[in-house]
Amino acid sequence: MKIVRAALLATCFAAPGLAAAQTLQGLPPGPLGQAIQRGHDMMMNSSGSTEAKPYVGNALNCSSCHINAGDTSAPGNFHETASKFPAYSKREGAVITLEDRIANCFMRSMNGMRPSTDSPVVVDMAAYINWLDKGQPIATPPAPANPSPYPAMLKAATPADVTAGQTVFTANCAACHGTDGAGLGSFPPLWGPKSFNAGAGLANIAKLATWVKGNMPLGNPHLTPQQAFQVALYINTRPRPDFVLSQHLAPGHDYNASVHAETDTVASNLQKAGLSLQSLTGGP
Ligand code: HEC
Ligand code: HEC
Repeated sequence: MKIVRAALLATCFAAPGLAAAQTLQGLPPGPLGQAIQRGHDMMMNSSGSTEAKPYVGNALNCSSCHINAGDTSAPGNFHETASKFPAYSKREGAVITLEDRIANCFMRSMNGMRPSTDSPVVVDMAAYINWLDKGQPIATPPAPANPSPYPAMLKAATPADVTAGQTVFTANCAACHGTDGAGLGSFPPLWGPKSFNAGAGLANIAKLATWVKGNMPLGNPHLTPQQAFQVALYINTRPRPDFVLSQHLAPGHDYNASVHAETDTVASNLQKAGLSLQSLTGGP
């Protein structure tokens, strides 16, 4: 169900999230088709749904990062996602299901509470992803990703890269996301209290660089790998919510993981990459 790029863009410029009204074609009849449609709509407008809203802790929609509810060829797409699960997750130290993966994005990328994997919101979203991926071959284990240039750039990062990243940001991103990165109208925040937390996938600088290179500026992704890296470094040296796992699990919540204590901060993420927030930014 591809929306042509131009139509998607027009929608995004008018108000991202408006495409929630899209009626999917070729759905199975009855309750399953309705579940798939709801799953799609809750990804496009996550806070606008009474089922999803209790688990959303920031100003983002799933589709802020999984553009067009994952029906795109850019990084963050959901093509071949259903067929990858169950999969081993290094972060959780466990073999996890698609439903686990969806629930984890709620507590990390959406900075909210983790819904249980049999809650209607997770079941509907899993139904949508499965439907989107119909006909895809099962790919367990998934094919290895292409080698990324970003880990090497990260190792060699300097304060000059942060400054260069700020220049890239001002020239290419601030018009939509605000000069303070806090978002502008319906354009989502890149850092600050309403953004994804430090435990999210995009809090990893190499992952953010890959995602930005393929997706941003929206509709015209043209940055060089170096610029994508530098702007990712700049964004992920700005403040964002810490991730304290226990604060995202309801009492007694059954979290499928071998790791049950986790705290991530902007500084600790940089430390893991061998970098110091203070020496990169001169900040505390
Ligand atoms: C801030 C950006 C962001 C938001 C918002 C977000 N995600 Fe994600 N999501 C990611 C990234 C990045 C990955 C890949 C992470 C990785 O490689 O570790 C991912 C991975 C996934 C995957 C696994 C995809 C695959 O093919 O392996 C699923 C499923 C998923 N997200 C669902 C969701 C759902 C559902 C929501 C909304 C409740 C959501 N995400 C919100 C960034 C985001
Ligand atoms: C033309 C407006 C526009 C420009 C310019 C733009 N973005 Fe975005 N960006 C968006 C929209 C809209 C979304 C959410 C996508 C959606 O809802 O379909 C988004 C989403 C994002 C996200 C994921 C969600 C979040 O808030 O974290 C990141 C990260 C991001 N943009 C980074 C950048 C970077 C870096 C640049 C500059 C290189 C940039 N953007 C330039 C419009 C823009």
